[in-house]
Amino acid sequence: MPIYPANPEQIARAARYLAQGGLAAFPTETVYGLGADASNGLAVAGVYSVKGRPTFNPLIIHLPSAELAFRCGVPTPAAEKLAAAFWPGPLTLVLPLREGAPVEPLALAGLSTIALRVPSHPVALALLREARRPIAAPSANRSGHVSPTSAAHVLAEFGDDVPIILDGGDTEVGLESTIVDLSGPEPILLRPGGVTREAIEQVLGAPLRDKSQSSSSMPNAPGQLESHYAPAAAVRLGARAVSPVEALLAFGAPLPHDGPMLNLSPSEDLAEAAANLFSYLRRLDAAGAKSIAVMPIPQHGLGEAINDRLARAAAPRPEA
Ligand code: TXA
Ligand code: MG
Repeated sequence: MPIYPANPEQIARAARYLAQGGLAAFPTETVYGLGADASNGLAVAGVYSVKGRPTFNPLIIHLPSAELAFRCGVPTPAAEKLAAAFWPGPLTLVLPLREGAPVEPLALAGLSTIALRVPSHPVALALLREARRPIAAPSANRSGHVSPTSAAHVLAEFGDDVPIILDGGDTEVGLESTIVDLSGPEPILLRPGGVTREAIEQVLGAPLRDKSQSSSSMPNAPGQLESHYAPAAAVRLGARAVSPVEALLAFGAPLPHDGPMLNLSPSEDLAEAAANLFSYLRRLDAAGAKSIAVMPIPQHGLGEAINDRLARAAAPRPEA
């Protein structure tokens, strides 16, 4: 069993393993990541192969401080502000790649920009400090699957294909980081996530554009695929009634239902709902429901990221 408690000894062992080109999964405050040395092309190739990613999509590069991150990407004034406000934390910044940055082009899918993140989870920070190199870490799930929020989820995804999974318990945020692209003339929200749009706009003092409103032709990213984060069951959004053959994913006062039911947040707390989202989708899937009916979630604050993931889970699947 590749799951190890995230104590100092195991963190040091995982860091050595990463430095030798191995893959290790670790907790962050958002979801579990599948880490590889970003400066080692073979190690990065291993990530794509284990995840079964259809194409080489760019990975988020993790560092233990803004100072180290800005050695890989060139910060803009907006990047300095957002880093000061939200790092370490669930925010990823896309910046122009710094010349000579110790990151293999494969990790960036050949782009001249780099997605940088300084996570706040103490295990992630300790691992990154000890590894002493930029770590590429996508969410630790097979391509298209729901992101893992516990070590057991990672094991369910990869079995023995990932030899080290550091167990740091359930993740706190439960959704991936927010991605803001600062490489162009104006900040663009590429992916809603753990830091809300409202909080970012307040620090920037300006509204964030959406990807769809921008004229730039960003490469197509997995987080931007229509169907993603998908459980095996079909997902039906905005449910105002539930059929007896469905499972119910409730929010607030639940609809009447006799079958399998989990409530994201009985008190309508969006942070609680975000933290529960992926693990509840997995649990309702495991209950064998053909279809999961999801009650409406408000679109403000973390609701924007929750609804984004739910819309992808409900999108038509590329293949059966
Ligand atoms: O919370 C998170 O961000 C987690 C944890 C493990 O840190 N990581 C994560 O990575 O969600 P991943 O690979 O599942 O999602 C990375 C997203 C993808 O949509 C990718 O296309 C986008 O980041 N991305 C990476 N580099 C980019 C770049 N240079 N420009 C635009 N998008 C980029
Ligand atoms: Mg992912």
